[in-house]
Amino acid sequence: MTQLTRPDLDRLPAYVAGRTVPGAIKLASNEVPYGPLPGVVEAITQAAEQSHRYPDMGVVALRDKIAERYGVAPERVGTGCGSVAMAEHLARATCGVGDEIVYSWRSFEAYPIIAATTAATSVQVPNTATHGHDLDAMLAAVTDRTRMILVCNPNNPTGTALRRPELDAFLDAVPTNVLVVLDEAYREFVTDPTVPDAMTAYSDRPNVVVLRTLSKAWGMAGLRVGFIVGSPEVATTVRKVITPFSTSGVAQAAALAALDQVPEMERRAALVIAERERVLTAIRQLVVDVPESQANFVWLPLGDRSAAFAGACEAEGVIVRPFQGDGVRVTIGTADENDAFLAAAQKALSR
Ligand SMILES: Cc1ncc(COP(=O)(O)O)c(C=O)c1O
Repeated sequence: MTQLTRPDLDRLPAYVAGRTVPGAIKLASNEVPYGPLPGVVEAITQAAEQSHRYPDMGVVALRDKIAERYGVAPERVGTGCGSVAMAEHLARATCGVGDEIVYSWRSFEAYPIIAATTAATSVQVPNTATHGHDLDAMLAAVTDRTRMILVCNPNNPTGTALRRPELDAFLDAVPTNVLVVLDEAYREFVTDPTVPDAMTAYSDRPNVVVLRTLSKAWGMAGLRVGFIVGSPEVATTVRKVITPFSTSGVAQAAALAALDQVPEMERRAALVIAERERVLTAIRQLVVDVPESQANFVWLPLGDRSAAFAGACEAEGVIVRPFQGDGVRVTIGTADENDAFLAAAQKALSR
């Protein structure tokens, strides 16, 4: 058959989303289990009445709100259809064919897809033995072709986090013409004070862009809003390459309502954090080498047993996320959901 699409994409693995199985407990997509934040559904309902109109393409009110919350100038903010789309736009804004994107592996599974979509070359640097980023090796992997480095902090799917001194040293050493994207999708779940908030720690570095999402702690995964905060020059270019109107009117309204709910978002994040620590303590009795987590999930390095473990959990009505031959990521749910997972894990591992 005549090849109509780029042949290099034939080898690209498709994104595998966490499975939704009717009636089962879903702990596979790092969502927060408590429903939309107060006011969000009302804002959506109201915005829906204007859904025959295009949304504000400049996303002015939302960019202003984000800027106010994080203490940055609105010109430094760009929004899009989830932070995954923003990462893609960043790649599009920085890379031409054959340029290189460096990232740790295993990390967020959209990164290889983003690189390939841009026709950039993925340079994957293996995680450390303790499942985190190997910043020295990532630095050593930078070449003249490197245009972007993705740093996932905390890392999906392992939950590990980088501390301020090591990240400072890394950023000092990266050439200033390479864009470093600090993907902080799980920032709201970080409790270790030595893990920097890139928004404040690195806002003076022109080659750093912070990537955030409203999908996780803010409970808006189904509405698709992510954003970047970067230098005015980078943000301006990224805004040019964003698919026009990709932050829908409903999404903009919902995000404005959600961002008014900081105390409730923080209360819910605190529940998740407390459950995370409880689940970690319990699962460490069953699985060796489980790393600490600064996110809303835990990583079970089960290697070849990963798929079987996920299958056994599913048989007990709990959907977790296996990564073939590597490990299993389990999202923190409600206390009851976590209890169901722990019971399923106990059963699966005692076989
Ligand atoms: C590290 C990381 N970055 C970005 C995203 C994308 O989130 P969204 O596109 O929903 O904003 C995810 C989602 O799982 C993630 O884990």
